[in-house]
Amino acid sequence: MRLISSALSLLAALSTVQASSEKNVARDGALGGLANSIIKGKAFDRIIQIWLENTDFGAAQVDPSLKALAQKGLVLSNYFAVTHPSEPNYVSSVGGEYFGINNDNLFNVPKNVSTVVDLLEDKGISWGEYLEDMPSTGFTGFEFRNPKTGANAYVRKHNPLVVFESISTNPSRLAKTKNFTLLYEDVAANRLPQWVFITPNMTNDAHDTNIAFGGKWTKQFLEPLLENPNFNDEGTLVIVTFDENDASSQPNRVFTLLLGGAVPKSLLGKTDDNFYTHYSTIASIEANWDLHTLGRWDVGANVFNFVAEKTGDLVRSPSNIKDVILNKSYPGIFHSKTQVRQAVPNTKLVVNGRTVLPAIQDEWVSKVGCTVYSGQLVPPSALNAPQIPSGC
Ligand SMILES: *[C@@H]1O[C@H](CO)[C@@H](O)[C@H](O)[C@H]1NC(C)=O
Ligand SMILES: *[C@@H]1O[C@H](CO)[C@@H](O)[C@H](O)[C@H]1NC(C)=O
Ligand SMILES: *[C@@H]1O[C@H](CO)[C@@H](O)[C@H](O)[C@H]1NC(C)=O
Ligand SMILES: *[C@@H]1O[C@H](CO)[C@@H](O)[C@H](O)[C@H]1NC(C)=O
Repeated sequence: MRLISSALSLLAALSTVQASSEKNVARDGALGGLANSIIKGKAFDRIIQIWLENTDFGAAQVDPSLKALAQKGLVLSNYFAVTHPSEPNYVSSVGGEYFGINNDNLFNVPKNVSTVVDLLEDKGISWGEYLEDMPSTGFTGFEFRNPKTGANAYVRKHNPLVVFESISTNPSRLAKTKNFTLLYEDVAANRLPQWVFITPNMTNDAHDTNIAFGGKWTKQFLEPLLENPNFNDEGTLVIVTFDENDASSQPNRVFTLLLGGAVPKSLLGKTDDNFYTHYSTIASIEANWDLHTLGRWDVGANVFNFVAEKTGDLVRSPSNIKDVILNKSYPGIFHSKTQVRQAVPNTKLVVNGRTVLPAIQDEWVSKVGCTVYSGQLVPPSALNAPQIPSGC
């Protein structure tokens, strides 16, 4: 039965995937943009990610503001960023891979690479980004400085979706990468999307300040919103995390806090010490809504334990967590020194019944012999770069 029904849903998905983005536009229009139909998830109905910058786990853990917030949530004590510096980590959070990026330059990931947005739209789940001091919605420029002081405010390297051509060349998708001030309008109108990514400016995210400043901003920003039912209800999961740690010679472990009504009450004020990475967030989203996958590092990543308890995913442990370093990028199309061919998704991977998005299968199946993704739990780094099969 299971096989038959998943084959049927695969066929259905194949025939709808082409039309899905147009359909979404039409649906938004039909509702006058006032409401989104909510697609229920197994562990949460909405996920809101807030990314802060460049802080070691220990420094964030003792910060008084984050400590106070942690009383209301669940700390993930073995959550790792995937490389350095910023941009490849942000890219990973939506692409399941960083394509060899090892600096913060202006990159455009080719259109034939899918992101979490393709997976969400395939199931009709709404999404949006809110970027503080982005000068206008859909802005694709490299940076925007404070007009009075000239200080860093908005930077493209902290806007994960705009790095992908599948977003940056599509006006209706770009319109969902919004100026931060619109967050408050969307909350007030009760039309916050189901997948939300929030990037504070370079002052508030601790990048050009410090963790005391960034922690304080986070607490002041979140506390009122956690009391607002248009932002936080029993289906909301909020993730506060950091793009990367500060000391690149240390394991890249970052303080991560799960908040919101979807976190089980029994876990509040507690710690989950399972192994997670930025790819775990995509994996948890896929498991929660039974989405397809990207066929990249998202497939092997652990799903957050409280989500896995509802979805039946297996939470695994690395053989030795002390060996997880993840402090330097492996080669790829955008690596500044070692360029290698474009990484090919593994179109054959299946995890807990979830298959690779049919559109990705169509695009890449003929090259699958060159894939490096095999459902590994611990993603590689420069120290143990993926081995591309010979002849590729
Ligand atoms: C993906 O697109 C890039 C850029 O257009 C191109 O170089 C590459 O060959 C494409 N890959 C595949 C497998 O189609
Ligand atoms: C964009 O956001 C900034 C602050 O984040 C605000 O000052 C500005 O007016 C906004 N611009 C638009 C066009 O909404
Ligand atoms: C960042 O945003 C805050 C308001 O949240 C503002 O006071 C600050 O000036 C902004 N930073 C820059 C560099 O513009
Ligand atoms: C990454 O960590 C390893 C092992 O601790 C160390 O040898 C290497 O120098 C580090 N790389 C960077 C770029 O800090």
